[in-house]
Amino acid sequence: MIVGTSWKMNKTRPEAQAWVAEVCAGLPPLGADDQVFVIPPFTAIAPAKEAAANTPLLVGAQNVHEADAGAFTGEISAAMLRELGCDIVELGHSERRTLFNESDLAIAAKVHQVLTAGMRPLICVGEDAPTREAGKATDYVLSQAHAVFAHVQPNELADCWLAYEPVWAIGSGSTPATPAQIAPVHAALRDNFPTIPLLYGGSVAIDNAAALVATPAVDGLFVGRAALAAQGFLTILNASLSTTSS
Ligand code: PGA
Repeated sequence: MIVGTSWKMNKTRPEAQAWVAEVCAGLPPLGADDQVFVIPPFTAIAPAKEAAANTPLLVGAQNVHEADAGAFTGEISAAMLRELGCDIVELGHSERRTLFNESDLAIAAKVHQVLTAGMRPLICVGEDAPTREAGKATDYVLSQAHAVFAHVQPNELADCWLAYEPVWAIGSGSTPATPAQIAPVHAALRDNFPTIPLLYGGSVAIDNAAALVATPAVDGLFVGRAALAAQGFLTILNASLSTTSS
């Protein structure tokens, strides 16, 4: 089971340190297949990494630039993230795709950078509400995933994680997806990409985590708001681990 969170544009360095210290102090025993991660904003990666030293908590970044280095004001390279000790880089979140116009091609180039630097890409895919209402959710998600993975070597696929995050289920005021809505999309992703662990994200909460991880082909959860408090994250983690180990 894989359980992690992105803080998006939240938390100062002291807040990050406090969250990581509280989570690491409360981590349950993890099995060989269990992975736990946090993805702070760039400025809090180093303190989060330091607070997570000698614990199983993995630390990631929320974006990377597709070039090695150069005249790209405001951007961060994969080598810079690796230098900070990043384990994971989140790519293609719907907020990046929508607010910052990221294309599948740009995301594919970023995946290449992340893999080359020795980190794990966590790629997000997901349809918007009109696409789901038109009955095209699974086709759309598959096309996003194929557009990225077409550029990844077959032997590198297992180093990637994929998160299905329906856009309509993300953020406050949205509708959480049900296991019945998630199951066919995850089944199709599993058929197409059998070696890639599949996470679900979008309004994961304390009261729905157990049902979500019990959904076939769901290998983990990618949590937003509900994990901004350390105890929320720990509760969701414990619920996920006890559901899958029972
Ligand atoms: P949310 O965010 O859990 O706050 O809906 C999820 C995400 O954007 O990954």
